[in-house]
Amino acid sequence: MPLHPENELSINPSQNESILDVIDRVEPGRRRFIKFAAGTAAMSMTAFPLSMKTANAAPPPVGGIGFAQLAADTVPVTDAVSVAPGYTARVFYSWGDPISGATPFDPTVPMTEAEQLVRAGMHHDGMHFFPFPTGGAGGLSNERGILAINHEYTDEGLLHNSTAIGMVPQTAAMTRASQAAHGVSMIEVRKVGGVWSVVRPSPFARRVTANTPMKFTGPAAGNALLKTAADPNGTDVLGTANNCAHGYTPWGTYLTCEENFNGYFGTTSAPFTATALENRYGINAAGFGYRWHLTDPRFDIRTTPNEPNRFGWVVEIDPFNPRSVPVKRTALGRFKHESAAVVVGTDNKVAVYMGDDERGDYVYKFVCSGLFNPTNRGANRNLLDSGTLYVAKFNANGAGVWLPLVFGQGGLTPANGWVDQGDVVVRTRQAADREGATMMDRPEWIAVHPTTREVYVTLTNNNRRGTNPPSVHAVNGSTTAGTARPPVDDANPRVDNRYGHIVRWRETGGDLAATTFEWDIFVLCGDSLSAAANLQGNIVDSGVPGSSDYGAPDGLWFDKDGRLWVQTDQPGDALGDWVNIGSNTMSAIDPSTGSTYRFLTSPRNCEVTGVISTPDGKTMWINIQHPGEDWSGSFTARSSWPDSGVNGATNVPLTKPRSSTVVITKDDGGVIGAGSTTVSS
Ligand code: FEO
Ligand code: CA
Ligand code: CA
Ligand code: CA
Repeated sequence: MPLHPENELSINPSQNESILDVIDRVEPGRRRFIKFAAGTAAMSMTAFPLSMKTANAAPPPVGGIGFAQLAADTVPVTDAVSVAPGYTARVFYSWGDPISGATPFDPTVPMTEAEQLVRAGMHHDGMHFFPFPTGGAGGLSNERGILAINHEYTDEGLLHNSTAIGMVPQTAAMTRASQAAHGVSMIEVRKVGGVWSVVRPSPFARRVTANTPMKFTGPAAGNALLKTAADPNGTDVLGTANNCAHGYTPWGTYLTCEENFNGYFGTTSAPFTATALENRYGINAAGFGYRWHLTDPRFDIRTTPNEPNRFGWVVEIDPFNPRSVPVKRTALGRFKHESAAVVVGTDNKVAVYMGDDERGDYVYKFVCSGLFNPTNRGANRNLLDSGTLYVAKFNANGAGVWLPLVFGQGGLTPANGWVDQGDVVVRTRQAADREGATMMDRPEWIAVHPTTREVYVTLTNNNRRGTNPPSVHAVNGSTTAGTARPPVDDANPRVDNRYGHIVRWRETGGDLAATTFEWDIFVLCGDSLSAAANLQGNIVDSGVPGSSDYGAPDGLWFDKDGRLWVQTDQPGDALGDWVNIGSNTMSAIDPSTGSTYRFLTSPRNCEVTGVISTPDGKTMWINIQHPGEDWSGSFTARSSWPDSGVNGATNVPLTKPRSSTVVITKDDGGVIGAGSTTVSS
């Protein structure tokens, strides 16, 4: 696909514009705004978060967690976002809302590709706020910036307005609308008169979708495994999908991570026999039921067998240049990427921590060959293309080792069938299998403490560890062999880990490039009122036993003061295993004590995800994903959040539950979560 040279800015440092050039170019009227940026050349990225300069140490106490924590939702779960007293949560940006235009969402009609391309995608997930530069303290705005939001997947029934979606013939138009509902939103946001809103129109507004032209860089670019008939060079790819969690770089770019990409592929070719590579990544004939392959041969794995190899990457996007071409950074490996936490060391070394969210999959680290340049943004542009990819081995007794996944090292040799580093990164999972990484209980988000650089990873759950004995069929008496399941280990100690846990580690010597680390289990999540000892966990409650319990930790983020925020993605609300825990939640944790305070409870049958604040910590955004999800075909059987009543403009009922970004502020204007007086309720 030919690309206009201007569109290659984000992969060619010699052509890079500064953020200020971009603002100037896309909206000359904003030159006045730029005048307020004191010392514009020095408006470097030094003030971006995670560029911190202190030594490795035990987590210090946070400045305080000061709110009266919420009680758990009980049946029936409130179909709303509730936040601690003294705070206000407001729906901000929902699926179907315009990114830049003025026409409101109409829930009564099926979404078209053309409409979806200018509206919020579905199923919001990871998110980051990129502040505009200012002349104020820190040089970054607390009132204006770009919000980058992942759209992980779709509910095809909601999208196409059909309660019988599986039975409706798939059309090319449906496939294109679905592909357009995936990807990323970039929206300009601004606080005026104390109220945050989406800026419409905005020259920064952008949708990245499953059909947006992108480039490959790094060791797999041009590799035979990435070549297709449409891209014989293996360097150009269309789109990104299943954008789950995310990352952001200190040079001001967004990283969107491709998680369960396998589900979009399928084939009608029969009989279907998966290759070893397809098997390891979950590629099969049916996929997750999206049926894209029925109208788009790119997603038919027998028509375009290498196309799945072109997904499962971390994609870097420049939010400040809406015309930039996103880049799939293959050096970071190919797996079901959850988040990509970028950290800069005292020596300006750069590391990226990443999880592969599958039962028994791994935790990774990428160490860049080059150093972060805090005074020249363009010099950092291709940092993520060269470096060493490692996978974690959590040994007993709290010692850990980073195993390099480098062609020619360990078992990754030609004698064992490895071709080159491009081959190693395309088949990252198999390379990690070969080197003996530790199988984890589904790594989700990774967060790094803002001053100590201690790293925390959520392991959301895994009920398939330990022995799995042969089973005998109740009717015919036949025996099915027990499948191989990993035994428990020190880092994943529960046979039935239905509530998940959080592991943390410290690099040896505080060196981001260290090949050893020390780790421990930060918390075992659970229901402390459960009769089963294995399920109780060891969450430090805030006073009343059981008052702070949560399970299925997923989203994880440190704020500027070192409060650790954890968000949950449990399957049900206040039913079964979750009766004592209630709905999904977001809690604040003091990492020095483990004390946990429930801050937010969710609408029904959703997931709480995505969390970021303005640099001053006084505005926070979170995402509510898939409210009401139940696959019954009824859109509103479980939730109609966030809408009710009728649309004032069109007079039609607003009845579809919609994933949404929510903005949270403290009523006294203070820092979210801060304070010293905490009362359990
Ligand atoms: Fe999309 Fe692993 O969460
Ligand atoms: Ca997740
Ligand atoms: Ca999850
Ligand atoms: Ca999700």
